[in-house]
Amino acid sequence: MPTKSVQTSPFSDQRPGTSGLRKKVPVFQQPHYVENFVQAIFDTVEGRDGATLVVGGDGRYYNKEVVQKVLKMAAANGFGRVLVGQNGLLSTPAVSCIIRKYKAVGGVVLSASHNPGGPQGDFGIKFNVSHGGPAPETFTEAVFKRTQGITEYKTSDASDIDLGRIGETAIDGMAVQVLDPVADYAELMETLVDFGKISSLFRSGFTMRFDALSAVTGPYAKEILERRLGAPAGTVVNAEPMPDFGGHHPDPNPVHAHELMELMQGPDAPDFGAASDGDGDRNMIVAPNLFVTPSDSLAILTAHAHLAPGYAGGLAGVARSMPTSRAADRVAAKLGIKAYETPTGWKFFANLMDAGLVTLCGEESAGTGSNHIREKDGLWAVLLWLNILAELKKPADQIVREHWAAFGRDFYTRYDYEEIETERADELMTHLRQGLSTLPGKRFGELTVESADDFAYTDPVDGSVTPKQGVRILFKEDARAVFRLSGTGTAGATLRIYMERFEPDPSRHHVERGDALIPVVEAAKEIAGIEGFTGRAAPSVVT
Ligand code: G1P
Ligand code: ZN
Repeated sequence: MPTKSVQTSPFSDQRPGTSGLRKKVPVFQQPHYVENFVQAIFDTVEGRDGATLVVGGDGRYYNKEVVQKVLKMAAANGFGRVLVGQNGLLSTPAVSCIIRKYKAVGGVVLSASHNPGGPQGDFGIKFNVSHGGPAPETFTEAVFKRTQGITEYKTSDASDIDLGRIGETAIDGMAVQVLDPVADYAELMETLVDFGKISSLFRSGFTMRFDALSAVTGPYAKEILERRLGAPAGTVVNAEPMPDFGGHHPDPNPVHAHELMELMQGPDAPDFGAASDGDGDRNMIVAPNLFVTPSDSLAILTAHAHLAPGYAGGLAGVARSMPTSRAADRVAAKLGIKAYETPTGWKFFANLMDAGLVTLCGEESAGTGSNHIREKDGLWAVLLWLNILAELKKPADQIVREHWAAFGRDFYTRYDYEEIETERADELMTHLRQGLSTLPGKRFGELTVESADDFAYTDPVDGSVTPKQGVRILFKEDARAVFRLSGTGTAGATLRIYMERFEPDPSRHHVERGDALIPVVEAAKEIAGIEGFTGRAAPSVVT
């Protein structure tokens, strides 16, 4: 047996964040760095002997090398079978789907999601557990603890597997099955949305553009939209996954998906525009001349999901992360279903779904999903939109405006201040937290603070409490500002400020969202003393 143990010593920086371990590629390229972390995961997985493991990534730089390392380590650590996507590719939602379908013990996802790739870009390793969703904090903390005491890892001297060829091979007696990355996922989609109806929509001349941003969703979107649903060739652009994403920043928002935005605002706009991120779990929806905020998209999908066969029986409930606007809550109230508010990050939704409490969930950061898997799912959201468009037979922008007219509009924006010195960012948050009790009643411009707190979440299923999930300031004028630090950045700290204001009056729904939100932006800047603490006059990105 070519299995061997290799001596190693701990790296102090292997604590997983919101979505696994994310670092710059050169950090992962240090000798033993990947192996230490993977061994710590394997040591933490219960019941790995003879079990099935799923492995795949978004195709970014270093993906292929790490897949080979994980395969050899899996063989040396006693797994019975590994399912790996052809060429090492699997979107994050596909990993979740495959774990569930083949009853795997878990899956190793190689991705840094929407962060840029390439030799100097970001890389990441995340572990999903047997329900298909990201490992809970108890697991990731155990992994971190293990990394801090590691002295050796197990691997194999076997040669590399040919990842290009679909079929079954073996490493040291462990079966390795190279899968078509799209097939299982596409089959699942066919059970949820009406492919026949969407095909007729395309046959009737409906046009769309899907921008895969040279990331992993390209092959999925080509197969499903163009081949199975009959959208014209060329509907999917930037469809070839590339190690550096072809220079794209694969984050589907109006700033980074600017080509799509320009098209949708121009005279040749198709009827519908969409994009997905590096690993395929995020989505962006654009109507001609109208960007649909992810918060509104979640609300609109909640209102109309019953039109798709997978949701014809109605929804059990809906969940959104705390910084996501309250638009979905308004729909839930009307439908008579419960709305849940969770901390940022997908793992909190999994408990609610497993307990059957919610069917749909979403985040302001372009993540929308349902209980079909335990990850957010970019292409699924696009398909559900298409199903709704095919049923309602109305232009996408009209659907959005009618939604606002019925429920009111939640104007929404997010400001990101990236790569702030960690110390400055911590000081800002501490200062905010310390001042919370003095805020109620104070006036900032035309707004008066009604209440202010630091969001703590009590999981309704297991009773666990997660404190300090973001500072919330509510204004009497039905507006809100939320402050939190990112848990996925790889350099310095990123401060996120989420701002919203509710407008019930349809005669004011056409106002530019930037204009509608000026008073909230001004109040938020003043309350947190942004410029004083960060030295920044303006945010790095506004979405
Ligand atoms: C960001 C998003 C969050 C999302 C996460 C993983 O986390 O804000 O909604 O779940 O990426 O995709 P953050 O960097 O804010 O911690
Ligand atoms: Zn992602």
